[in-house]
Amino acid sequence: MAICFLSPVKTINLSPFPSITTTRHHPNPNHLRCNFSLTTVTTTEPEPVFTSVRSFAPATVANLGPGFDFLGCAVDGLGDFVSVAVDSSVIPGEISISGISGPEASSKLSADPLWNCAGIAAIATMKMLGVRSVGLSLNLEKGLPLGSGLGSSAASAAAAAVAVNEIFGRKLTQKELVLAGLESEAKVSGYHADNIAPAIMGGFVLISSYDPLELMRLEFPREKELFFVLVSPEFEAPTKKMRAALPAEIGMPHHVWNCSQAGALVASVLNGDAAALGKALSSDKIVEPKRAPLIPGMEAVKKAALEAGAFGCTISGAGPTAVAVIDDEGRGVEIGKRMVEAFQKEGNLKAVAMVKSLDRVGARLVTTVPS
Ligand code: HSE
Repeated sequence: MAICFLSPVKTINLSPFPSITTTRHHPNPNHLRCNFSLTTVTTTEPEPVFTSVRSFAPATVANLGPGFDFLGCAVDGLGDFVSVAVDSSVIPGEISISGISGPEASSKLSADPLWNCAGIAAIATMKMLGVRSVGLSLNLEKGLPLGSGLGSSAASAAAAAVAVNEIFGRKLTQKELVLAGLESEAKVSGYHADNIAPAIMGGFVLISSYDPLELMRLEFPREKELFFVLVSPEFEAPTKKMRAALPAEIGMPHHVWNCSQAGALVASVLNGDAAALGKALSSDKIVEPKRAPLIPGMEAVKKAALEAGAFGCTISGAGPTAVAVIDDEGRGVEIGKRMVEAFQKEGNLKAVAMVKSLDRVGARLVTTVPS
């Protein structure tokens, strides 16, 4: 996303595509991209410290309403697994995808590492590490449905980046891993870090700058309750298509409103105020109004969630999953039922509901086999 302030501004450039957000300030269409993402960041080639590793990365809720492209959080208990192994049959410095499993995953995902989210992130990580003498094979286990608005591509990319980093002795920082994952996101769904950053770092993450990439982890107090009601209909909303639906420009009143709500969202996360968080998350006047009509029943689902007592409701990422916020798990289950009914009644879509808490850990190692 680009927001540019030129002259006495009446409109704000809000193109979802960095490649077409050229402005008078930045004639280079890539100005929003971080330039060092594929630069080798380690000086000597690292040796593998494990023969194989298996990692996990969680689902994420991007945008959180007014935080389009700059706020996201990770949710507990859902995600993708990636196993990476040193493989002498693979060309040194390269990666081969040995398997993809999970509902619909093997038929819909490419096994070509250059066109697979996990493969792209793994290659980017190997490049950053300067790996030239070792080949790797990668196995992807999809736990997340594709195109659901739960950060499916980011979870694969995050798990792959972490697995490759771990097998070579954890030389890269979290921020570098986010950059590796961002290569993958840019290729498959658009240049945005609000899924990949929380998938790697866990918790709530604010992307305060894209060039250079600057990330702020926002701590929701551990003693406070927060639950996400995630309701996923049987409907695909490809991120690229949902980004194409966004306005290229917005008016100043909407800019002021959404900024104030994004500020309130950040404050409520830090204060551990689930009710204020829900209210702010529910208040987007720029992105949600353009996308909700593209998801059958979404407006009714939001209404049903609020009537059932949710603190707020919006589209999770680019959709079609709807996310509502509450501070009690049992009430979350009830809210989820009302949302499922609304998807059926108003959108003629079957949907499933889950109540999840915050994942504070992010992508992590699950198992290792020593060298
Ligand atoms: N910020 C991105 C979008 C997230 O809304 O397009 C996609 O999951």
